[in-house]
Amino acid sequence: MEKYKKRSWAEPYKIKVVEPLKMTTREERKRALEEAGFNTFLLKSDDVYIDLLTDSGTNAMSDNQWAGMMLGDEAYAGSKNFYHLEEAVQKYYGYKYLVPTHQGRGAENIISKILIKPGMFVPGNMYFTTTRLHQELAGGTFVDVIIDEAHNPTSLHPFKGNVDLNKLDALVRKVGADKIPYLTVGVTVNMAGGQPVSMSNLKEVRLYCQKHCIRVIFDATRAVENAYFIKVREKEYENKSIAEILHEMCSYSDACTMSGKKDCLVNIGGFLALNEWDVFEEARNMVVVYEGLHTYGGLAGRDMEAMARGIEESVQWDHIRARIGQVEYVGEKLTDLGIPIVLPVDGHAVFLDAKTFLPHLKQIEFPAQTLAAELYLESGIRSMERGIVSAGRNKETGDHYYPKLELIRLTFPRRVYTQAHCDVTVEAVDEVFNRRESIKGLKMVYEPKYLRFFQARFERL
Ligand code: F0G
Repeated sequence: MEKYKKRSWAEPYKIKVVEPLKMTTREERKRALEEAGFNTFLLKSDDVYIDLLTDSGTNAMSDNQWAGMMLGDEAYAGSKNFYHLEEAVQKYYGYKYLVPTHQGRGAENIISKILIKPGMFVPGNMYFTTTRLHQELAGGTFVDVIIDEAHNPTSLHPFKGNVDLNKLDALVRKVGADKIPYLTVGVTVNMAGGQPVSMSNLKEVRLYCQKHCIRVIFDATRAVENAYFIKVREKEYENKSIAEILHEMCSYSDACTMSGKKDCLVNIGGFLALNEWDVFEEARNMVVVYEGLHTYGGLAGRDMEAMARGIEESVQWDHIRARIGQVEYVGEKLTDLGIPIVLPVDGHAVFLDAKTFLPHLKQIEFPAQTLAAELYLESGIRSMERGIVSAGRNKETGDHYYPKLELIRLTFPRRVYTQAHCDVTVEAVDEVFNRRESIKGLKMVYEPKYLRFFQARFERL
């Protein structure tokens, strides 16, 4: 680990095209925030200075990817870009069959509908919003089987995304393996703070699931980032390439859903990749209903080309080291200032611990939602709530889920911002931290039925 830390890195690219940023006044931001109902998802991007809402679809593509866009084969069927993408997925992820989808949730919808029957249980290493919703819509019940450390923002466990085999085993004993169509393994775990899963855990999970005939399906959205952490934190892998590690990781699963908008360095796209012919055949039938023909799945040929090229770039060491390096840089600066964040700093984002940041707010006063609003007001920096609003409601009882973690996510798009933007971000968070005691909470005044965090509206208490 030390070996990589000692020398500083610089962005491994130079800038060819620039997109001007708009600065706003505090007065303008106050108005924008009120109009957006204190929900950063409802802000106009034009009113945002540094956009750390998400790393999803916000990546900067390379000149090579843009060149590929001009080689889009927009045939309805059998586009050559599909075959290039298929080749890239087979080579780097190692699955046999590919079903392209418009983005990750398209793949989640298809696999949930195929494998989950009403009354089944779907364990996973913490939930992701869209993944769990598709599982529930298919009649399944999600069961969290992540290790306890994942719920503790100060635990320094190097692989907080690991599956707790005792929890999984308890579920198998309780409901029976035939009620469990598959285990979802997020590599990395977004909601826990971009935390990785170790290779040794993946191997154990695979063995256990094989014994009980339970499929393992990866959410491979940020699997390359997971591979980076295996390389720097798991001794046996320090001399393996990112591509080798990624390939080995995927060999411990039967299929994956993928949001290409993250690791694959594109603005749109996703896929379902599988090894089982029968499931693939059904997925191919289904993709035609929900996405588009099985050789484009809702994507333009050019989008598939950009994704194929993005996959090749994503596993390059210089890329992934700088990508994670940028997040680590911000994390270290915030830690030095005594600002509470989820540790260790991982993956795609720095997560501020809003419960500790704003201890005077009750969870029902939406501390994370409040903090995201305050950071925007302070600086024009946009972040995302990952707490009680994102957690939603229990569909049986109608009660809020009360997650242990109340976080805001400063998410870094790949190759978009520079180190100077990172410095400005740290300074803004520090400003809010210095006036934290005077910050008041929010109340929810509008709540949509599904994925409420996207469109809920709030007012100041
Ligand atoms: N799985 C994970 C781990 C994700 O982070 C996302 C998206 C999805 C699945 C769904 O993929 O958006 O392409 O349909 N996460 C975004 C985010 C929205 O901001 O974290 P999608």
